[in-house]
Amino acid sequence: MGAMNLDKNKRSLRGEISVPGDKSISHRSVMFGALANGITKVENFLPGDDCLSTISCFRQLGVEIEQEGSRVVVFGKGFEGLSEPEGILDVGNSGTTIRLLMGILSGRPFHSVLMGDHSIGKRPMTRVTKPLSLMGANISGRKEGEYTPLSISGQQLNSIEYKLPVASAQVKSAIILAGLQAEGETTIIEPEKTRDHTERMIRQFGGEVTTNGLAVSVRGGQSLTAANVSVPGDISSAAFFLAAGAIIPDSKIILKNVGLNPTRTGILDVLTAMGADITIEPYQTESGEPAGDITVAFSTLKGTVVEGSLIPRLIDEIPIIALIATQADGITVIKDAAELKVKETNRIDTVVAELAKLGARLEATEDGMIIYGNTFLKGGEAVSSHGDHRIGMMLAIGALLCTKDVSLEQAEAISVSYPSFFDDLQKLF
Ligand code: S3P
Repeated sequence: MGAMNLDKNKRSLRGEISVPGDKSISHRSVMFGALANGITKVENFLPGDDCLSTISCFRQLGVEIEQEGSRVVVFGKGFEGLSEPEGILDVGNSGTTIRLLMGILSGRPFHSVLMGDHSIGKRPMTRVTKPLSLMGANISGRKEGEYTPLSISGQQLNSIEYKLPVASAQVKSAIILAGLQAEGETTIIEPEKTRDHTERMIRQFGGEVTTNGLAVSVRGGQSLTAANVSVPGDISSAAFFLAAGAIIPDSKIILKNVGLNPTRTGILDVLTAMGADITIEPYQTESGEPAGDITVAFSTLKGTVVEGSLIPRLIDEIPIIALIATQADGITVIKDAAELKVKETNRIDTVVAELAKLGARLEATEDGMIIYGNTFLKGGEAVSSHGDHRIGMMLAIGALLCTKDVSLEQAEAISVSYPSFFDDLQKLF
C-alpha cells in the first residue's frame, strides 16, 4: 500500500472550496433513479469509490446508467426493471450500498449474491437480515446471516412494524426499500432520529412516506417517477475543513454549497458549543435537501461532551471531532457511540491508536473516548488510515499541526468518499 508524505506545514489555510457531493444522497440518487420510471439526471454526484460501487451494482442488475465525473443519468424502469445479475454484486467498501441493496433485492423475484472487501466482511448484517426476514425475505450469509457473502432469493414481502434496536439510517432505509415492495404499510420506530435522505428522496420521486416523531411509515406497491437531483456538498467531507479552519491558527475557510439537513449538522452544533467562529448562510434549494455556505475561522476552543441524540447526527464526524478536541481547552468526552466499533474500522480503536502516534492524549472507553485538550502534536511517526477514508483525512489534517513530517500509510482509502481531498487542501495553502 502506498504511503503519502504529508509535509509539516504550519501555514494557515485560507480560501474558498466546494466540497464534493454528499455520499448518502449520491447513493440514493442512483438507487431511486433505477427504481423510478423515467430518466433521472443527477448533478454534483460524488464520484467516490463507494458511489461508483453502487453504479456498478445497478448496471449488473440491468439498469442503464451513464456517468461522467459528477454527472449521472439513470434510465429507470421501476422495481420490475431490475433483472437477475449473472455475477456476484461487489459493493467494495460500501456499507450503504450493501445494506440498502438488501432491502431492494429481498423483494425482487430472482437470486443475487452480495459481497465486498475485507472491511465489509467484518461488518454486522443481522441488524438488516433480521427485520427483512420478518418481512418474509430469504437471506443467508456466514454466521447465520451476520457476514458476507450474502445470498438473497427474492420473495413477495409482507409489511411489519419494527422497533430498530440501533440508530442506523442504513437499516431504516433497507426496511423502507423492502416496505415499498411489501403488501400493506410498514412502520419503523427509531431509537434516535437518523439521517432522513431516503424519506426525502421518496417524496422527491413522487412517493409517499409519513413520519411521526421517531416513526416512519411507507405503503407498499407505490410507483416512483424519475426526478432531477442536485446533490449538495457533503457535510461529512466539509467537516475536515471545518476542523482545519477552527484549529490551525490564522485560518479562514469558506465552504460553498454544503448540505445542511438537520439530521446531519451535529458537527456544527459541537463546534459552536466549543466556541468556534462559524457563520452559516443557508439558502433555498430546489431539491428536497437544505444547503448553504459555511465560513469558519480560527479561534480558541473549549472541551465539550458529545452524547445522546447528537451521536447519529455526527456519527461519521467523530474521528475529526477527536482531533479538534486535542486542540481545545479542557477535556472532551464522547459517549453513547458504540456504533463506532462497527464502521469501516473500529473507529474507537483506530482514532485512539493513530492520534496517539501524532502525540495526542486520549483514551478509549466502552462507548466512546476521552480526549485531553491543549496537546502539542509533534508527528515524526508513520500513521495509517487502516483503509478507512475518514481516519485518513483526519490524520492528514492532524499532520498540518505537527512540527515533524508525518507519513500516512494507506492514504488511497480517502478516494472512498473524497477523491479530490488533497487537491482541495492544496487550494487553501
Ligand atoms: C449512512 C448511514 C450511517 C453512516 C454512513 C452512511 C447512510 O451508517 O455512518 O456513512 O447513507 O445511510 P449507519 O446507518 O450504519 O449508522
